[in-house]
Amino acid sequence: MKYVIGIDLGTSAVKLLLVNQNGEIKHEVSKSYPLIQERNGYSEQNPEEWVAQTADGLKELVRDFRDEAIEGISFSGQMHGLVLLDESNDVLRPAILWNDTRTTSQCRRIYETLGEDKLLEITKNPALEGFTLPKLLWVQENEPEILKQAKTFLLPKDYLRYRLTGELHMDYSDAAGTLLLDVGKKEWSKEICEAFHLPVSICPPLVPSYEKVGSLIEAETFGLSQAPGVFAGGADNACGAIGSGILEEGKTLCSIGTSGVVLAYEQDSDKDFNGKVHYFNHAAPDAFYAMGVTLAAGYSLNWFKEVFAENESFDELVHDIASVPAGSNGLLFTPYIVGERTPYADAAIRASFIGMDSSHERKHFVRAVMEGITFSLYESINILRESGKSIDTIVSTGGGTKNKDWLQMQADVFGVEVVKLSSEQGPGMGAAMLAAYGSGWFHSLEDCADQFLKIGETVKPIEDNVKKYRELFSIYQEIYHQTKSLNRQLSAYR
Ligand code: XUL
Repeated sequence: MKYVIGIDLGTSAVKLLLVNQNGEIKHEVSKSYPLIQERNGYSEQNPEEWVAQTADGLKELVRDFRDEAIEGISFSGQMHGLVLLDESNDVLRPAILWNDTRTTSQCRRIYETLGEDKLLEITKNPALEGFTLPKLLWVQENEPEILKQAKTFLLPKDYLRYRLTGELHMDYSDAAGTLLLDVGKKEWSKEICEAFHLPVSICPPLVPSYEKVGSLIEAETFGLSQAPGVFAGGADNACGAIGSGILEEGKTLCSIGTSGVVLAYEQDSDKDFNGKVHYFNHAAPDAFYAMGVTLAAGYSLNWFKEVFAENESFDELVHDIASVPAGSNGLLFTPYIVGERTPYADAAIRASFIGMDSSHERKHFVRAVMEGITFSLYESINILRESGKSIDTIVSTGGGTKNKDWLQMQADVFGVEVVKLSSEQGPGMGAAMLAAYGSGWFHSLEDCADQFLKIGETVKPIEDNVKKYRELFSIYQEIYHQTKSLNRQLSAYR
C-alpha cells in the first residue's frame, strides 16, 4: 500500500493526516501553538513554532509506518499571513496573521494610491485588513529598518515547506490572497509593487499547488527510510474545497470553522463580483473560486460558550436547541463580534442580540447564535446567486456538521439540500489529494475525489422553516444598517 501526507497549518494547530491509496485516513496527529496578541487587534505567531510542532507531529504520524511507501507530502495553510525573510532566509519578525486588524490605514493608502477600480481589475479583491499587502505596508511604515533587510516574503505554509525542502516558492491559490498577484494572468503585479516602492524580487517564484518542488530533507530524522516528494500545496480554503470535491462548476461549499466561508467553483478568470466576495485562484488546475467570509462563525458560538457556559461541553450547550422553534421565538443575533468581511467589509461593526424577551431561556440564545451565523453565510450565498451562480446543493463541512440540528438549520436557511461527506477532513484531505495527484496516482483531481470522497448524509429543507427563515432573514439584514452608527459611537469606549 502507498501513502501520502496532508499537512494543514491552521491558526491554532497543525493537523497531519496519513492517507492511503483508497483515501482512508490511517493516522492523524494534531499539535497546537499559541497566538501572540500583544495589543488589541494584533495577531502574530512565531514561525519557528510551526516548524517545531510540524516536525514533532510528523515523527509521531509516521512512527508505525516508517518502512511503508510514503510517496508525497503537501500542505494547506492559513491564508494571508506575512513572513519576512532576510538574505540568509532567516525570519525577521513574528508572522502577522490573517486575523490581525491593525492595517485599516494601510488599506486606505492602497485605495488612495492605486484607486479601487485598478485594484479590483488586477487583484479581483478589495483591500481588507486581513490581506498581505496591507501588512507589508504596515511594516514599511512602522518598522522600515526591517523591511529594508527583507529579501523575500512568504505565506505561512510556504515558510514551513521551505524549512522542509530548502526551496522558496508560493502557489497561486495562496498568492491570490496577497493583493500583489494579477489573479487572471497568474503573475506578480509589477504595477502594484512599483506603486508601493516594493521590489518585485521580494515576491517568491510562483508554482501550481500540485507541482513537485523538492523532497523532504533529512527524512531519516523524522524516522523515514525514504524521502517523500514535496508538493507545493494551497490556501486552506482552496484545499478545503478540494477535500470537499468542489472541482466543477455548480459545486458550492459551506465551511464553518473559526471563520465561516461559502465558496463556489469558478472556471472563468473574468467573472466580475465587483469585490463583494473574494475571488481567488483555485488549487485545482486552471480554476478559480468565489468566496464570502463570515469572520466569526464557530468563533461566535465559542465566544458564547466561554462567556456563558464555560464549564460545559459543546454537546451540552447545543443539546436542547431542537426544542426551540425556528426563529428562536423572535430573538435574532448578528455574528459581528470581531467586525465583518462579507457582505459588509467593516472592522468597526459589532454583534447584537435583538428582540430579547423575558420568556427567553439560554437555549433560545444558543439557537439564535447558530441562526445568526447561518444567516450571515446565507448573505454570501445570495451574493453568489445575484451574480448568476446557480446553487442547488451545498456541501457542508466543519463545526456546522457536527450537530444534526445545525445541519438541518443550514438546509432550512439556505433553502437547498445540504450534503455531509462521510470522512470530512476538509483542508488536510485536500492537501493529501494534491500530493496523491502530484505523485501521479490519478489522472486528475476529479478522479482522486471519486476515490477519496464519499457522501455520508443528505439533508432536505423543511418547507415551513424555509418560509419562516426567509421572513426573518429580511429583518436580520436590517440589523447591520440600524446598528452601524451606534457601533461607531460605541467603538470609542472599547
Ligand atoms: C480567508 C481567511 C481565512 C483564513 C483562515 O480569506 O482569511 O479563512 O484562511 O485560515
